[in-house]
Amino acid sequence: MITDMKSSYRGVTDEQLAVLRAREDELYLRRTPKSRATFASAQEMLLNGVPMPWMGDWGTSHPLFVDSASGNRITDIDGNCYIDFCLGDTGAMFGHSPEPTAEAVCRQVRRGITTMLPTEDSLWIGRDLARRFGLPFWQVAMTATEANRYVIRICRTLTGRPKTLVMNECYHGSVDETLPHIGEDGRLELRSPFDINPGLPKDALTRVVEFNDPDALERELAHRDVACVLAEPVMTNCGMVLPAPGYLEAMRQLCNRYGTLLIIDETHTFSSGPGGYTAMHGLQPDFITLGKSIAGGIPVAVYGFTAEMADRINLSFGHKSVADPMGIGGTLSGNAFAIAAMRATLEKVATEGAFARMIAGQERISDGLDVALKRHDLPWSVTRCGARCEMQFMPHLPVNGSEAKAQFDWQLIYYTHLYLANRDVLITPFHNMMLVPPMTTDDDIDRLVAVWDSCMAEIVALRGK
Ligand SMILES: Cc1ncc(COP(=O)(O)O)c(C=O)c1O
Repeated sequence: MITDMKSSYRGVTDEQLAVLRAREDELYLRRTPKSRATFASAQEMLLNGVPMPWMGDWGTSHPLFVDSASGNRITDIDGNCYIDFCLGDTGAMFGHSPEPTAEAVCRQVRRGITTMLPTEDSLWIGRDLARRFGLPFWQVAMTATEANRYVIRICRTLTGRPKTLVMNECYHGSVDETLPHIGEDGRLELRSPFDINPGLPKDALTRVVEFNDPDALERELAHRDVACVLAEPVMTNCGMVLPAPGYLEAMRQLCNRYGTLLIIDETHTFSSGPGGYTAMHGLQPDFITLGKSIAGGIPVAVYGFTAEMADRINLSFGHKSVADPMGIGGTLSGNAFAIAAMRATLEKVATEGAFARMIAGQERISDGLDVALKRHDLPWSVTRCGARCEMQFMPHLPVNGSEAKAQFDWQLIYYTHLYLANRDVLITPFHNMMLVPPMTTDDDIDRLVAVWDSCMAEIVALRGK
């Protein structure tokens, strides 16, 4: 699990970290015997003991098995209670089981879960999404992966072009077109043989450029074979990379110049505010995709688009819907249960007030971590975006995915996360993202910062020894 990638700014040796890690492993075993035993039993019927691979990928000897989750707390089956800053990697961005969402799904579950017919709530959510994000037309999918897949298909149809352009080290779900990245020799490569359907050549459908490089973007778009650019406005899956001033505007202009459509994936950056990064910064995409938290964690995703795109879709597809059964849509998508969950979440949970508390919480974490880093003289940095922030093991904020990924350090990530978990604090497993739901208190945040602080103190104490 631990790779040999490490940050040049870690300040400790592999051996020193291994000693710290061994102590934390032992403590974890002592705190979680029931999770450990359950994981052992689960090997008999679940591949590698978990129902979904990522659940087994927290860098611990066994995953925590969850008894319950509510607000910003998770209780495991051993009775440990954690302050949660991972929030199901954004699915529970507004806290676990928000009361209005829970009430709405309880009501709807007895009134019909899925009929493959629309409910009136879908008008409400369409109007609300248009108001928030500034795009007039919306469709519903189950997951953000699916929304991205559908929109890419639509863009190909509208432009008659084969390729999708993505940013190096991006993640937009398990969408084949988005998985290649730039290898050391400058050519596209895959991270694992599973990364793309066997037989699909990795460069037939994809172009990849570094984020924040408008010249590279123009060079690739000039081939005029790119149907769409699919980008997060802030990269959030390789650490976090903020856009340079003017970059997203340049992206829009270049797409216009070369006849390419622009998709902004707001799945994570929705944490910027009620209308995501798009509304906050006046972006003008052709399409927006968004999933995970939009229905309080019930699986729903949406994609929105301009009136021009709606007209072009209807013209290109030759009828008033895109209901080609092999292309776009899914049996359960837009089901009454999911739509009710989304309405309750948008109406009563993802409010202006909630975002204000979430963003203030992020600022408190980031300020606290900045002070701790300075006190310990550690050359790491904290990137801020809306309600989420990211500790990066490098002294300055990265400008692109390659730079961010170059300072990834799995050994350090696993040790620090385990240190936090053993002290009842959870953060996102695959990097150092911390997300703040609205019910988080100042005490919760101060606890997170204090635990990071003592973890840093341990690392610094070993420096030069
Ligand atoms: C930006 C972004 N888009 C899309 C997805 C896919 O979401 P899901 O796994 O819920 O389909 C992810 C998942 O992490 C993501 O980070």
